[in-house]
Amino acid sequence: MKVLVTGGLGFIGSHTVVELLDNGYEVVVVDALYNSSIDVADKIKEITGKDFELYIDDVTNEEKMDEIFAKEKPDAVIHFAAYKAVGESVQKPIMYYKNNLLSTLTLCNVMQKYNCKKIVFSSSATVYGDPEVLPITEECKVGGTTNPYGTTKLMNEKILKDITIADKDFSVVILRYFNPIGAHKSGLIGEKPNGIPNNLMPYIVRVASGELPELSIFGNDYPTHDGTGVRDYIHVVDLAKGHLKAIEHAVPGIDYFNLGTGKGYSVLDMVNAFEKVNGVKVPYKIVERRPGDIATCYADPSKAEKVLGWKAELGLDEMMRDSYNFILKCKEDK
Ligand code: UD1
Repeated sequence: MKVLVTGGLGFIGSHTVVELLDNGYEVVVVDALYNSSIDVADKIKEITGKDFELYIDDVTNEEKMDEIFAKEKPDAVIHFAAYKAVGESVQKPIMYYKNNLLSTLTLCNVMQKYNCKKIVFSSSATVYGDPEVLPITEECKVGGTTNPYGTTKLMNEKILKDITIADKDFSVVILRYFNPIGAHKSGLIGEKPNGIPNNLMPYIVRVASGELPELSIFGNDYPTHDGTGVRDYIHVVDLAKGHLKAIEHAVPGIDYFNLGTGKGYSVLDMVNAFEKVNGVKVPYKIVERRPGDIATCYADPSKAEKVLGWKAELGLDEMMRDSYNFILKCKEDK
């Protein structure tokens, strides 16, 4: 099977391409290098010993996408390409809505033209807003997103649903990720945000490696076991494997899956685990809560296990070890 992966050089995309190649899929990557770099392609080839087609193009460019589909004739698509910085999305809503919605619309239009009717979409637990019940199941209410980035995920889900209503042959699998961290165990690919990171794990590794002085913990007065925010962190390699299960499962219509571990860890749990596993200190200070943050968020991932036969296998220790290993390897290579 030939799979076209948009955003295939990004954090989750690159790990998914590795899994696809390792499992015998033919892969075509379309990536505009907005938040990724071209050398990731060589790293993927180094890890897998396999080659793939690469187009440095924007998914919103319909003419280009048409050319790519005409030439490659993919059987299925995994759609990662999107802007994803929450803070930036608040500053630049038009840019976020335009890019994140137009890319899906363009892609689906071209897919229909070339009779490619299977898509896995990269969504987020952010669509649940502040959850009413925990753990979060796929039946929980969606909505109440607190920023344009989150709202684009929700709108994309709705667009894809409407496409399956109009076209009975269209298969959509929505994967709602919890908090992806970690890196490939080779240390060759991982998460490399531009500038100062917003998310917890990229920040912790930069403090540990001495690039940033200390971590700011956003609030210790939440109703959690130690007052700091609780999240469901999942190893990116487990997450990547979920996409293969989704592609294999896809049937006409739309289906939604939470990809998480089902376990919640606080910010302090994360700092302590990182220090223990890597034997390095992470200095921190407690500061004000970050606007838009919620207290607790973790998945009920049992539907994915039941229907897809997927379950997260890697634990917190591997997530800590691999995240740090990647950043150390990046420093070595400089
Ligand atoms: C955020 C986004 C979410 C997105 C996800 C991608 C918000 C409101 N949500 O989730 O839409 O899908 O990233 O991974 O931004 N923390 C600190 N100090 C830091 C950074 C984070 O204390 O420097 C805390 C946060 O308050 C939170 C936890 O660490 O309790 C995790 O934060 P983060 O990694 O940014 O993820 P989310 O906010 O869960």
